[in-house]
Amino acid sequence: MSRETLIDLLYLFSATTFVLALKGLGSPKRARYGNMVAAFGMLVAIVATFFKYVDGHALYHVPLMLLAMFIGLIVAVPVARFVKMTAMPQLVAIFNGVGGGAASLVSITEFVHIKSTHPATYVILEVLLGVLIGTVSFAGSAIAFAKLQELMTGRPVTYPGQQVINGVVGLASLALIVTILVTSSEPLLWVLLGLAFVLGVIFVLPIGGADVPVLISLLNAFTGLAVAASGFTLGSNLLIVAGTLVGASGILLTRLMSKAMGRSLPNILFSAFGATVTASGDTQRADGRSVRSGTPEDIAILLGFASRVVFVPGYGLAVSQGQHVLRELADELEKRGIEVFYGIHPVAGRMPGHMNVLLAEANVPYEQLVEMDEANSELQTADVCLVVGANDTVNPAATDDKTSPIYGMPIIHADLAENVVFLKRSMRPGFAGIENELLYNPKTTLVFGDAKDTLTKMVAAVKAS
Ligand code: TAP
Repeated sequence: MSRETLIDLLYLFSATTFVLALKGLGSPKRARYGNMVAAFGMLVAIVATFFKYVDGHALYHVPLMLLAMFIGLIVAVPVARFVKMTAMPQLVAIFNGVGGGAASLVSITEFVHIKSTHPATYVILEVLLGVLIGTVSFAGSAIAFAKLQELMTGRPVTYPGQQVINGVVGLASLALIVTILVTSSEPLLWVLLGLAFVLGVIFVLPIGGADVPVLISLLNAFTGLAVAASGFTLGSNLLIVAGTLVGASGILLTRLMSKAMGRSLPNILFSAFGATVTASGDTQRADGRSVRSGTPEDIAILLGFASRVVFVPGYGLAVSQGQHVLRELADELEKRGIEVFYGIHPVAGRMPGHMNVLLAEANVPYEQLVEMDEANSELQTADVCLVVGANDTVNPAATDDKTSPIYGMPIIHADLAENVVFLKRSMRPGFAGIENELLYNPKTTLVFGDAKDTLTKMVAAVKAS
């Protein structure tokens, strides 16, 4: 078997592992396995590439490549290992941006390389699309990172005529691509690079902090497409397959996230959602209604009389890192014959599967994680619904108030339970910035404080009872 055939077979093997990995990532039980399979496939592909002959000779600059990989390893491994769960979206953003930037650089190098050989128009088009999409993804991801890391405001940045300006820059980029196709001008390529960078920045500016995870998923799809474009340019089937898989799964994930938020993708990208906060933050409403607050000990007594308890975790649980104590509370209740399960909203937290990963960290059995629709049918018979650091995902405005910005978002109907308890620190709203009527419902009790602290006190009180 020739060297080339062997390398192609190894690439085929890698591509197969990527497909298997995606299958594994479809379920929390097999997600870890899926990751390992993909990582192994990638390792095989990288090692095989070092043995590749290009134009009849071995790769140049192998020591430099190894050095670059080593530096990447030194930076990426500790970052990935020690990143906090709540900071995962920005980690994905930065990794994704680097991927887009790399795809763009490959396309630029290739343009300079092949320009003099007068390649077919479609080859140059692939290269130019690689530059455009890869750079937009790089610049957009950098801004997304800055927003999530709070290096700049997380709220939408808007100004008059914004969408028109964005449209003009987008159209100018496309016009430039056509001009470069006709003229093969290298200086214009650099102009395209600059314009794509500006486009990436201005495209992301009006998108609010908590919509950014959806945007990252979309940019991830862009990076996939840029990589696939590089694959066509370099004649690499593996890059085409890997890029297409990333592109397709990124688009599917983006669609799923928008659907779970009850909003269309154009609404997420262009409506500057979250620019205004409408919640008053008061414990007393203008109509005289006020919230009822309790102590962790009060709630421990309430739980002691329950026979069915539903936990609804949200972003605040991740912030407080209270997942282990929540599990401890569940264990204590179960010891007392109380049935416990967790109602999981698909967009609770700030990234897909956030709550599943968080609770898996605390070894919560998968069987106790119940998806939204099932949780809603079970909640009618629950004595207590304990909402831990969640807000928008249980806000009845999504079903009751047609004027609400979250109207249409499917929610967990916590209000169906006999009693509702919220653990949160203040009257501040959730990410959507809107009032939650459920906080003022007569069946609701609020326990103010950090969720982990409150849960710790509740566990102690349950144990002492
Ligand atoms: P949110 O509506 O954002 O509410 C989080 C709540 O946690 C807030 O009420 C906050 O109140 C409380 N909190 C924060 N830190 C806390 C702490 N240390 N201890 C106790 N409570 C704490 O969260 P959610 O219900 O999970 O909803 C997620 C939101 O993000 C949705 O609007 C969703 O559309 C959006 N979103 C999600 C995703 C994905 S994929 N998950 C993607 C984009 C957008 P206090 O400040 O008063 O404590």
